[in-house]
Amino acid sequence: MKTVITYGTFDLFHIGHVRLLRRLRELGDRLVVGCSTDEFNATKGKRSVMPYDQRVEILEACRYVDKVFPENDWDQKPDDIEREQADIFAMGDDWVGKFDHLADQVEVVYLPRTQDISTTDVRQLVKSLHTEQVEEIKSAIDHLSGLISKL
Ligand code: CTP
Repeated sequence: MKTVITYGTFDLFHIGHVRLLRRLRELGDRLVVGCSTDEFNATKGKRSVMPYDQRVEILEACRYVDKVFPENDWDQKPDDIEREQADIFAMGDDWVGKFDHLADQVEVVYLPRTQDISTTDVRQLVKSLHTEQVEEIKSAIDHLSGLISKL
């Protein structure tokens, strides 16, 4: 039984997350995920759209994920690796080199990210759509005011 362990926020769950989790699961027989808590993200100045409980529920519903546990701080990884008896520690390659120090305990792997998608991109897209709608409403109001002023 080969266990793979990974970590992340997994906010606004998207195709890059699905593909990463699928490839992680293919590296072994069991995939366990440390999901960053809202409190931990706050220490990094990050605030997710979805609260921790919802992000966990979505991860648990993903067929590639066998277990989800909270990631509360940077230093818990050695304990998690031991508790879960993980054989492989794996992350997307935006983290290359950052966890090499775990290599004496576990095999450390970085997988290529899916191109052109991230939580940040989805957030930007929603924000730009919102801005577009605001602009449309403003121009409709201007148009109406113009009509009213002619009455
Ligand atoms: N990931 C990936 N491909 C993407 C986006 C993320 O493989 N296109 C991986 C990351 O490398 C990480 C995991 O998914 O190992 C969780 O990433 P997370 O930071 O939660 O998602 P991002 O979309 O990268 O979020 P952000 O834009 O906030 O950095």
